[in-house]
Amino acid sequence: MTSEAPSSSSTAVLELRGLHVSYGAIEALKGVDLVVNEGEVVTLLGANGAGKTTTLQAISGLLKPRAGEIRFHGERVDGIPPHEVVALGIGHAPEGRRVFPLMSVLENLRMGAYRFRRVPREELDRVFGLFPVLAQRRNQEAGTLSGGEQQMLAIGRALMGRPNLLLLDEPSMGLAPLIVSQIFDIIQEINQQGTTVLLVEQNAAQALKLAARGYVLETGTIVMSAPARELLSNPRVRAAYLGEGAE
Ligand SMILES: Nc1ncnc2c1ncn2[C@@H]1O[C@H](COP(=O)(O)OP(=O)(O)O)[C@@H](O)[C@H]1O
Ligand SMILES: [Mg+2]
Repeated sequence: MTSEAPSSSSTAVLELRGLHVSYGAIEALKGVDLVVNEGEVVTLLGANGAGKTTTLQAISGLLKPRAGEIRFHGERVDGIPPHEVVALGIGHAPEGRRVFPLMSVLENLRMGAYRFRRVPREELDRVFGLFPVLAQRRNQEAGTLSGGEQQMLAIGRALMGRPNLLLLDEPSMGLAPLIVSQIFDIIQEINQQGTTVLLVEQNAAQALKLAARGYVLETGTIVMSAPARELLSNPRVRAAYLGEGAE
């Protein structure tokens, strides 16, 4: 498999170099290298337990790497606290949405904008433009939304911090195919509006249609890195992540 091996260029928004993350004795990431360039959608694929969530949590400052570097626009960000990572411009829609169920849609969105003294009107307008259903339900308790709406809220909340880089952890998880298509269309729109995206997915077929490039993570190690088109036609990827005979 070809390796992109992108160098430390000024267009790199995010660079992971030799990233090691452990949970006690469990080594979840064993030297991950990954680059996301300005304006890209990059997907990180891998089976359950591969280390995808761990990777995103390390980027967000929720987990401290044991070794390696995380650079955002060239600056080291590993080891800095999560709220400072948000303030630098990294938004994270976590696995399982994690909306605040007893708070309204609007209150959830406000939480995403906590780094600003006042909720920025343009961010709120952008989120309501992308997700009209959230505008309709702005006063509804988040816990009463459907799964798809909660996912939209999780993405919207991350956008409220005005991120340059949006981290999405399995946004399609547990959603019906029609809703998944809607979510992926919106991710594309968010990217076209100028936000760089790192998309973690088990849904490889959809993710590779959206992404320019992809990485495949297996038990804490990147085993493939290639343009999405190459990954889609790669026999090993097809067998492991797209199912036999996938179109
Ligand atoms: N809080 C934790 N404590 C101990 N081990 C964990 C914890 N979270 C994840 N792991 C382990 O780290 C590995 C990677 O997990 P994770 O990053 O959640 O994978 P993925 O998101 O790809 O499914 C797995 O072996 C998982 O069991
Ligand atoms: Mg995960």
